[in-house]
Amino acid sequence: MLYFVLKYLHVLGAAVLLGTGAGIAFFLLMAHFTGRTAAIASVARIVVVADYVFTATAVVVQPVTGVLLAWHMGYPLTEGWIVLSIILYLVTGLFWLPVVWMQMQLRNMAQDADAASVPLPPRYHRFFWTWFAFGFPAFAAVLGIFWLMIAKPNFRLPGLG
Ligand code: HEM
Repeated sequence: MLYFVLKYLHVLGAAVLLGTGAGIAFFLLMAHFTGRTAAIASVARIVVVADYVFTATAVVVQPVTGVLLAWHMGYPLTEGWIVLSIILYLVTGLFWLPVVWMQMQLRNMAQDADAASVPLPPRYHRFFWTWFAFGFPAFAAVLGIFWLMIAKPNFRLPGLG
């Protein structure tokens, strides 16, 4: 029963991480291409809230349920697929944290431009494309984690048992 609950929460967390990440990227990208500051400002406002409510919760729950699952299943945390997943998880976080900050900047710039009825500033476009570029390594790392979690390849990283 405990195993089922942990796994259920862990798989739900994985779905939330991937789904919210992909959803946020898609909707903000689509809003950007409308070129309308009001649309960009509203979508960016929602995206910032969604990241705090959904992604941030899953970001905390995922390693907790993951470590408990490993402990329950008797997998040492030094197993190659677990260590590599944790490394990839940290890589995702390294790209995700600036992304959250950039989304707030994009939202503020779009709101200001909309309120003043002026075009988006060049800084907005720099931030937007950096935000876009940061999504690729973060997304690739999450896809890699999915593969590692499902395939559980049997290997050891040097220096770890
Ligand atoms: C960060 C630390 C993490 C640890 C220590 C961890 C640990 C584990 C363990 C031990 C299992 C095996 C459960 C079993 O065989 O029943 C598992 C399964 C799974 N994990 Fe993680 N996990 C972590 C993060 C993640 C992340 C970030 C994702 C995806 C975003 C993820 C997605 C999955 C999925 C989809 C499964 C189910 C695989 C299957 O049933 O074949 N995990 N995890």
